[in-house]
Amino acid sequence: MNNNYIIPNEWSVIEEVFDTDNVKASESLFSIGNGAMGQRANFEEDYSGETLQGSYIGGVYYPDKTRVGWWKNGYPEYFAKVLNAPNWIGIHIQINRTNLDLNVCEVSNFKRELNMKEGWLSRSFNAKLKTGEEIRVEAKRLISLELNEVGAIEYSVKALNFAGEITFSPYLDAGILNEDSNYDEYFWETLELVEGKQKGAILSKTLKTEFHVATAMEVSFELNTKKVPVEQISKVEEKSLTYSYTIKVSKGDIATIYKYASYVSSLNYQNNELIEASFNNVEKATELGFQDLLKLQKNAWEAIWKTSDIIIEGDVKAQQAIRFNIFQLNQTYIGTDARLNIGPKGFTGEKYGGSTYWDTEAYCIPFYMGTKDSNVAKNLLLYRYNQLDKAIENAEKLGFKNGAALFPMVTMNGEECHNEWEITFEEIHRNGAMLYGIYNYVKYTQDFEYVPKYGLEVMIAIARFWHQRANFSSDKNKYVILGVTGPNEYENNINNNFYTNYLAKWCIEYTVECLNNVKHNYPEDFKRIVEKTNLKGEETYSWLEVADKMYFPFSDKHQVYLQQDGFLDKELIPVNELPKSERPINQKWSWDRILRSCYIKQADVLQGMFFFEDKFSREELERHFDFYEPLTVHESSLSPCVHAILAASIDRMPKAYEQYLRTARLDLDDYNHEVDEGCHITSMAGTWMSIVQGFGGMRVSDEGKLSFNPQIPKEWKSYSFTINFRNQILKIKVNHSETVLELDGTMDVQIQVNNKTITVSPYNLVTV
Ligand code: BGC
Repeated sequence: MNNNYIIPNEWSVIEEVFDTDNVKASESLFSIGNGAMGQRANFEEDYSGETLQGSYIGGVYYPDKTRVGWWKNGYPEYFAKVLNAPNWIGIHIQINRTNLDLNVCEVSNFKRELNMKEGWLSRSFNAKLKTGEEIRVEAKRLISLELNEVGAIEYSVKALNFAGEITFSPYLDAGILNEDSNYDEYFWETLELVEGKQKGAILSKTLKTEFHVATAMEVSFELNTKKVPVEQISKVEEKSLTYSYTIKVSKGDIATIYKYASYVSSLNYQNNELIEASFNNVEKATELGFQDLLKLQKNAWEAIWKTSDIIIEGDVKAQQAIRFNIFQLNQTYIGTDARLNIGPKGFTGEKYGGSTYWDTEAYCIPFYMGTKDSNVAKNLLLYRYNQLDKAIENAEKLGFKNGAALFPMVTMNGEECHNEWEITFEEIHRNGAMLYGIYNYVKYTQDFEYVPKYGLEVMIAIARFWHQRANFSSDKNKYVILGVTGPNEYENNINNNFYTNYLAKWCIEYTVECLNNVKHNYPEDFKRIVEKTNLKGEETYSWLEVADKMYFPFSDKHQVYLQQDGFLDKELIPVNELPKSERPINQKWSWDRILRSCYIKQADVLQGMFFFEDKFSREELERHFDFYEPLTVHESSLSPCVHAILAASIDRMPKAYEQYLRTARLDLDDYNHEVDEGCHITSMAGTWMSIVQGFGGMRVSDEGKLSFNPQIPKEWKSYSFTINFRNQILKIKVNHSETVLELDGTMDVQIQVNNKTITVSPYNLVTV
């Protein structure tokens, strides 16, 4: 793929040349979604070139049986996958009975645009068929935020040099596969096909999980913008429904099809209501019409941008990138349904199976807290709370007891469902992120009630886990945690990962602090929780004993905490001495070589310093950054943002900016050579943090106080961002000489800017 073909533009992602090598990458980049469903930018018409077809429905997954060579006790049974769902976008196009297929005709004036301001995707091109006919196609598509089970397509064909017939054959196809299926099986069974006049539906169910889904379509036609009657020829096959309509055209005529489609699933309806519900949706969409759906879409996106936009002056590529990140995050998760979460690739590809990772707590929660009503982040926390029983079961399967919980590294429904033992499964650090998410939420929103209502039960179960997982080393006279993988997945089965041990200690201490708080301030809840969890008073003492005596590997020579025991035995050769041809090392080196090398995939010790920055002195932060960053290859998309934020906080702006660019344009410029598989959605929240927490220096103290320490990359003229802080909207604009704050709300807020306390009153600009 040519990784520099996206045209810079402030509000749109644009591609202006048709190149078959870029088709799969563009399918990812131009994906659309509404939090409940999503669609790769596959073409509506046939395409015989390389493509990854992808239509996805949030929460509808398949447990694909794990594939491993040697089975070991404790391995998860399956890897959950958000499935490729029945195709709703397809329209075969024939010109005088010849199929339109961009892979085999001459294409010119190609343009594709993802309009992020208004939330739609368009594509236009001229095509000359082998048979000589020339056409101009203009297509537009959206997945509605307002009618969140509806997608709509407007597709026009202009006859440029001929008179004759244009045949539109819209279809629904439930005979689809996942490319990543472990055993090349179908995940869907087709139950019923319902044929109707200009509309139809398919009822299918997923095998094993038995989610029922109805997919419906309704179509209408225009000739030169006037409604035109059509005759239908129906083809009903085992798993698909295709209707053909032929429109006679003269040279210069434009024939248009509108296709409205809907997914409804048994997550929200009884199985026997599904077909009717899907028909209701397409009827409603048809009644509204494409233009009205577009208007609703524009309004819905306007509301989203109002509280989330970041404006960068003086750098169009940076502007486009940050909006792309914010746009994709909003397309993936809207926050109204606590059963849904944020897959690392969102609805843009199959990799990571649409499952939930620690990415949500460690990276995404700050974005959703900062840009939306606090209920959105709360729903993300409730997702885990609702899975607590499963997390306790997960821990029991591994031999833990007494209500200890191990939340999964990868999950759909609370069960662990990943099949890479050493890499993901040993990453027990994710248990700490669950608790860090709660801490971050409470600090930011001051919704302390979340703790007695839900959070504390999760905390107790996690504290119990760490207490049991650590063991006393009589040699060290300390507690140690053995056999783990830290965030740096290029080291497996290590002992005393600093990050893991630090989080374990912190989790215990924070849990005890919250227990005391709840005991005094919410005695009724305290009683209920103690009974429910069977918590004994002395238990907390034994937890604290582990926390107090936790072991942290430290180098006296370098005065840094070591990533794990034995780290200094490695040959420490900085990444910049590695030949370019050997990178990325995960594609060029054997696993054996990676494991024994000093190279760090993503922030590990530094992830801990990012989480708990105020527990370390400035000198400590600098020393650790200078020791670890040069050894870091940033081969996880989650890496550059953490380094950008830390670099900004120790005044290393050039480094911060370099890392910012890498996170912001990771997908648009395809840094990791894999965007064809999907976009890196969860790290996009890290991009947002890089501006707000990195350049803007936003922090919320343990006491809940908001502060900023703004800096600006020299490449930019100014930047501004908006945050929702406790239901008031605060706008911060930074340029090279000043910071301006504006509050859209009703109450004064006290904020520290550059260590000075200022009061911002509603609608009164404050300049610092
Ligand atoms: C990272 C993990 C992350 C996962 C999903 C991996 O490459 O190393 O930390 O959870 O991707 O984003």
